Amino acid sequence: MDIWHIRGGRRLEGVYRVQGSKNASLPILAASILGPMESELQNVPQLRDIDAALRILRHLGCEAEQRDNEVYIKSEGLCRSGIPHELMLEMRSSVIFMGALLARCGEARLSPPGGCQLGRRPIDLHLNALRQLGAQIEESGGEIICRAGRLRGAEIRLPFPSVGATENIMLAATAAEGETVIRGAAREPEIEALAAYLERAGCRVTGAGTDTVTIGELRRVSHVSHRIIADRIAAATVACAAAAAGGDVELRNVEPAHFSTVLHFLKQAGCVIMTENRSVRLRSDGRLCAVGPVRTEPYPGFPTDAQPVLMAALLRARGRSEITETIFENRFRQAPELRRLGADITVCRRRAVIRGVERLCGAELNATDLRGGAAMLIAGLCAEGETLVRDREHIRRGYERFDACLRVLGADIWMTES
Ligand code: EPZ
Repeated sequence: MDIWHIRGGRRLEGVYRVQGSKNASLPILAASILGPMESELQNVPQLRDIDAALRILRHLGCEAEQRDNEVYIKSEGLCRSGIPHELMLEMRSSVIFMGALLARCGEARLSPPGGCQLGRRPIDLHLNALRQLGAQIEESGGEIICRAGRLRGAEIRLPFPSVGATENIMLAATAAEGETVIRGAAREPEIEALAAYLERAGCRVTGAGTDTVTIGELRRVSHVSHRIIADRIAAATVACAAAAAGGDVELRNVEPAHFSTVLHFLKQAGCVIMTENRSVRLRSDGRLCAVGPVRTEPYPGFPTDAQPVLMAALLRARGRSEITETIFENRFRQAPELRRLGADITVCRRRAVIRGVERLCGAELNATDLRGGAAMLIAGLCAEGETLVRDREHIRRGYERFDACLRVLGADIWMTES
């Protein structure tokens, strides 16, 4: 168990070099097994979810190691097509190995994935799409077994632009005969990042970043070198922290357009924001005003992953803010914990209303999930006295050395383990 200690009331000042993206790295780690090849990935964050993906790769028979922010994978020795239940449970993204294994081995055996408890997270869209590519799928005794002699390219229409389903289809489609067209595809930057890796691996992908993505068959390439994009949600988190606590922070090595909807609301709340080519500077006096209405939506809409951290930034904002969560059915789990600090939040089904309070007072909280945990840290930075956040390592799943990053910016925060 990690225990985060925060003494609130400090402004944040300085430079934050934005970490590499967790959600872009994970599907690319799965893609590294598509053929017998070597992948060299730069800017991969050191996180619990990345460790879990590397353990899956080693279990499958690949060589995989991380040195600082570089990851080396040699997938020639891949000799298994199944992932044990304990490894599947470690994170949601383990499900992305399904498309990759099916493409490489013609078979994938796994169990439903774990990950943050944000409500129901079915994988029906993944399974239906793989069936359309010619896979036979059996679900029995908690195991999912996918098999395909030869996958066939198809036109697949997704009823909802699921990020994971789009990624799984793209991976499986690389082994299909003929072209695959995904209509209603997710448009997140992580999809474009996966497409860029696949192109380097010798696969023709067009339309990534739009709602129609076309994937051709993978030609064999022996070596791929690829740099992971910046983590837009980590950038949004630090932006929200500086907005709430007050400060002057520069976020470097990030694509501002990837989190422009978050910056839009922080500007509306009263922050001064200047964006340049690959950086964002944010100034805030720490007294924000209410914003909204905010509605989470698939990209390019407001990201659900930034909803908890924006909520935390609005706790002391003058007036009433309203947030509607449309992506996950249970993503306000941070709200009852934030109330312990004195926050005024009312949640009714998919809608949360935040009435800004004058002051928050330090308290003991329990991190509910990755982004909810980050929201609690932000609230602690603005609370009087000491806040303690008990965390079953949720925050470490997505934020690299977050205590040190915030300390460099001037926060009084440290972490102990128990
Ligand atoms: C990805 O999850 C991200 N994870 C999530 O980030 C992010 O919150 C989410 O996309 C939405 O942006 C990774 O990239 C590793 P979805 P994913 O499939 O792929 C429903 C974080 O904090 N759905 O787009 O699982 C589903 O229940 C994490 O970093 C189905 O109904 O998201 C949900 O309501 C958390 N059937 C919605 O779609 C399916 O088969 C969005 O899911 C698939 C999804």
